[in-house]
Amino acid sequence: MDMFFMEGPDPVLTRSDLIRDPSLSSYEKAGGYRGLRRALSGLSPSDVIEEVKSSGLRGRGGSGFPTALKWEKVANHRVPVRYVVANGSEGEPGSHKDHFLISRSPHQILEGMILASYAVGASQAYLFVKESFPEGVSLLQNARREALSAGLLGNNILGTGFSLDIVIFIGPAAYIAGEETALLEALEGRPPRPRPKPPFYPTEMGLFRKPTVVNNVETYAHVARILADGPSRFRERGTQKSPGTMIFSVSGSVVRPVLVELPLGFPLRRLLEDYAGGPLPGENFQCFFTGGPSFGILTAKEIDTPLEYDALRAKGTGLGSAGIIVLGSGDCPVATSREFALFYEKGSCGQCPPCRLGTESLHGLLEEVEAGKGSLQTLDRIRRVAEMIKGRGNCGLITASAYMVQSLLQHFPALLEAHLGKGVRPEGERIPCWHYDRFVG
Ligand SMILES: Cc1cc2nc3c(=O)[nH]c(=O)nc-3n(C[C@H](O)[C@H](O)[C@H](O)COP(=O)(O)O)c2cc1C
Repeated sequence: MDMFFMEGPDPVLTRSDLIRDPSLSSYEKAGGYRGLRRALSGLSPSDVIEEVKSSGLRGRGGSGFPTALKWEKVANHRVPVRYVVANGSEGEPGSHKDHFLISRSPHQILEGMILASYAVGASQAYLFVKESFPEGVSLLQNARREALSAGLLGNNILGTGFSLDIVIFIGPAAYIAGEETALLEALEGRPPRPRPKPPFYPTEMGLFRKPTVVNNVETYAHVARILADGPSRFRERGTQKSPGTMIFSVSGSVVRPVLVELPLGFPLRRLLEDYAGGPLPGENFQCFFTGGPSFGILTAKEIDTPLEYDALRAKGTGLGSAGIIVLGSGDCPVATSREFALFYEKGSCGQCPPCRLGTESLHGLLEEVEAGKGSLQTLDRIRRVAEMIKGRGNCGLITASAYMVQSLLQHFPALLEAHLGKGVRPEGERIPCWHYDRFVG
């Protein structure tokens, strides 16, 4: 699916001069590395953390966790060797923003990583990018070389005595590699399998068992702007509890699949009507997966929900990495959910039996229902499997798959029952396309 980029009403990361071309000279002309120069010449590491804290920045990789809290934990850790890691994996179906940022503004990400490393006392950082995104790999390698030769990276950065190298790590394309502890396993040269947690999170025992900050690449790009323009400028956009902007990706049954940066709290209706061009001709909206499939369904009558963490959570869904998949009246939520269940089955690393068996079983049961071979007992089994597996793996994949089908059961009971005993998928049903191949890797 081709995605259009549209400039939002008041962009921060995607301001036209910041994304015009990925070169260092273009980035510096747009004010790039101003935040780093400011920090290294006049702010202590704890001042940098304070600025990020007062901005209220929350991670843009899925959970919305406050960025400064992670940084503080690592900065205050008694172990002196620390690492900074950027997650550029972007595996969530429907999310395209990280690849866009890497392609258009790689220095913005590197600048945020250098600031994070200075703040937490790291002298080595890693940026994880998938092997299935070779253009991104070479753009990032090029940006790293440019930063090294300009003295913005490497030994004695800008003559301040602070030194840092960033490794551009070419990692496996699997969805699970985006889970932060699986990503750390991959960086250490092992297959990407999530580590059990609690008790130890990456901030306590991360890469090579050292305290580690893991943030999404968009999160780092925001850090660069916060240090350049100040935290209050960041807070001018968004809401009190969800400050700032985020890059939304809209795909599925809309006239114009689009990428656009908007202030958090922006109404879903306006995003879909003003930027994505509305529903397909002759159709209405049916429902939305607002945080990719992992956070469940929002029905069309909730279209006026503001796009921010708390409002979406209150409606039983979430913001995730802001990948919105739209289903129109011609789409079948059962068929779409069955596709997502297959995605989770293929995406499970298989190390936790409840996840391996549970995702396989949910997919099989939904396939039965969709093919008209199911009964009321099949629906009941789906309900029981989902309830049984929730929270019973090393990572969130298992819970996401359970939540996705529970949301289907909650919002579309009549449609599910209508499928029972029908024999074939009702004619004319369409499954929205969301790049299955790209995400399975
Ligand atoms: C199955 C799974 C896949 C994930 N994939 C990604 C991903 O592709 N990119 C990402 O940034 N975070 C992903 N996450 C979330 C990360 O584990 C982690 O929370 C995030 O990188 C932290 O960054 P942030 O605090 O800046 O959001 C995934 C989580 C799970 C459970």
